[in-house]
Amino acid sequence: METISTVAELRARVREWKQAGASVGVVPTMGALHAGHLSLVQAARARMDRVITTVFVNPIQFDNADDLATYPRTLAEDGRLLARSGVDVLYAPTAAEMYPPGFATRITVAGVSTGLCGGSRPGHFDGVATVVCKLFMQTLADCAFFGEKDFQQVQVIRRMVADLDLPVGIVSCPTLREADGLALSSRNRRLTPAQRQTAVALPRVLAACARDIAAGTGVAAALSDAADRLAAAGFDSVDYVELRAETDLRPLATLLPGTPARLLAAAWLGGVRLIDGMPVPPRD
Ligand code: PAF
Repeated sequence: METISTVAELRARVREWKQAGASVGVVPTMGALHAGHLSLVQAARARMDRVITTVFVNPIQFDNADDLATYPRTLAEDGRLLARSGVDVLYAPTAAEMYPPGFATRITVAGVSTGLCGGSRPGHFDGVATVVCKLFMQTLADCAFFGEKDFQQVQVIRRMVADLDLPVGIVSCPTLREADGLALSSRNRRLTPAQRQTAVALPRVLAACARDIAAGTGVAAALSDAADRLAAAGFDSVDYVELRAETDLRPLATLLPGTPARLLAAAWLGGVRLIDGMPVPPRD
């Protein structure tokens, strides 16, 4: 595996691959890699001839300075994991390479960015869309692989790709979970042992709420009950628990035949914000 930190070197390598007729996949990450990221790498390896994983803690998608400062940075270990996973290039640009002096552009994706994480993290999805668009332009990848845990993020990226005619296929991959159900996340490593025990309430409460809605409980009552149960389990605050249409994220007050629905939630344990989501009715 080669580690590259400049756009010029990356472009040169990708040009060689493309001249040889190879397809190129990219797995964008902010590092602190876990099995969930590596499953995206495996999905990319299965479909593409060459795989790039990007590691860049993107400052413009953080709305909170503490969150940016404490975001785990483990580049050496990430490199070891990626080399063992068969990645061709680890692309780890510096902030100055990504945002040189004078950088002044932001991409705003209306509609799917509003509410949910976009509501509680102002500017977050502008930062995500901007960096992901740059990563697509820098890597010139044919396909990009994202985790479904960040469900709203995937919809924002799909909308951006469609609206800007970006020549990249978006592949979303299932959420990987710990044995007790907690979704894998780089943020989990910031939980204390006691918070880690509480955290499992998030998937459990969501799974119960999804079952209740599928069984006919009113959506508003089920969502409010889920938020109460998260608070009772020990979460410090709940940003949202909502039912949305999977394709365009419009709020659903009821399940509609032929409209795939997803329950989405974000809640805080101390300074750690966890998100999760599940299809309704449950598919597993
Ligand atoms: O999901 C993430 O890790 C980030 O939001 C992404 C897509 C790498 C953009 O910085």
